[in-house]
Amino acid sequence: MLETAYREILRPLLFQFDAERVHHLAMWALKVCGRSRTALEWLRTLADSDRASDAPALSREVFGLKFRNPVGLAAGFDKDGVALPAWEALGFGFVEAGTLTPEPQTGNPRPRLFRVPESRALINRLGFNNHGAVAAARRFEALRAAGHWPRIPVGINLGKQKTTPLESAASDYARALATLHAHGDYFVLNVSSPNTPGLRGLQESDELDVLLRIVQETNHALGTSPKPLLVKIAPDLTFAQIEEILDLVTRHALAGIVATNTTVDHSLLPASAPRETGGLSGQPLRARSTAVVRFVASRTRLPVIAVGGIFDAESAREKLDAGAALVQLYTGFVYQGPTAVAKICRGLAAR
Ligand SMILES: Cc1cc2nc3c(=O)[nH]c(=O)nc-3n(C[C@H](O)[C@H](O)[C@H](O)COP(=O)(O)O)c2cc1C
Repeated sequence: MLETAYREILRPLLFQFDAERVHHLAMWALKVCGRSRTALEWLRTLADSDRASDAPALSREVFGLKFRNPVGLAAGFDKDGVALPAWEALGFGFVEAGTLTPEPQTGNPRPRLFRVPESRALINRLGFNNHGAVAAARRFEALRAAGHWPRIPVGINLGKQKTTPLESAASDYARALATLHAHGDYFVLNVSSPNTPGLRGLQESDELDVLLRIVQETNHALGTSPKPLLVKIAPDLTFAQIEEILDLVTRHALAGIVATNTTVDHSLLPASAPRETGGLSGQPLRARSTAVVRFVASRTRLPVIAVGGIFDAESAREKLDAGAALVQLYTGFVYQGPTAVAKICRGLAAR
């Protein structure tokens, strides 16, 4: 019932307004819901997530963490981690907050987020707008103190400041990791966003070698147990480049790979689509991201978190069949609405 209401009424209404404003409105509503047990219960019932997300057949253990189901919220949706309890209520098996940078930053000028409904896609050039790692750590502490910390794994995706030169990027990642180490169950180094100039250059062997060494040193130096550390890659890399990245990932004992970020290949869109620069996500990315996941899974035994063009159980199953251990969605959640996760879980459990 909610699924139809979202598709027929709410989505057409929301799509009348600027995409980023609607996003902030949704995040505000989810943040408010997260403060009240009654509201969270209501969200759970509304999303019909209760039994679907907890089906025993869906649970799994990946890089030492227990997941009730393999469907996660992709990075970028809840950049500052303001609505963590709501994601659990909506049925997600895990959530990835971020990208968080050491200091707050405002991102690129608006408008910077665009819908392409005929392709079930989004184009964004947000540029890591976030309130910074310190503010996030404070918020996470308060959430724990209030007893509202979610029972699902929380990953934290890290990035570098726009103004930090590439040669010093590693210290940004290490600093953000140190600030947030106590709070994340796993951490992702985002070296693949197309919206921070030069960032994707960190996927080059020499740069990545230094980055992984420095961040892993920090990870091991903090507290008693290092956290699982993953790297998120672009869909626009060649297989030869991915192979080099996998060598480094193994050498530096990372826990896994997140594949993929948004693509800069806009030839996947029809001519009628808006001519906006930025990363493309959603349906047009699906096949390419599955091909990358399949390649990565064929070359390493490390777990892969697959993301790109997942809208339903069938597209999630495609990624799992390609070798993914877990999946995430962003654009699919925008188009399918709050019942998406429960529906995907029901479909996956039925097989
Ligand atoms: C508006 C928007 C913002 C995003 N922000 C981030 C981000 O901050 N960090 C990141 O690693 N990925 C970010 N992503 C990429 C997503 O996490 C995901 O990798 C990509 O969108 C492909 O998945 P999808 O097709 O399900 O959207 C963003 C995507 C969108 C659409």
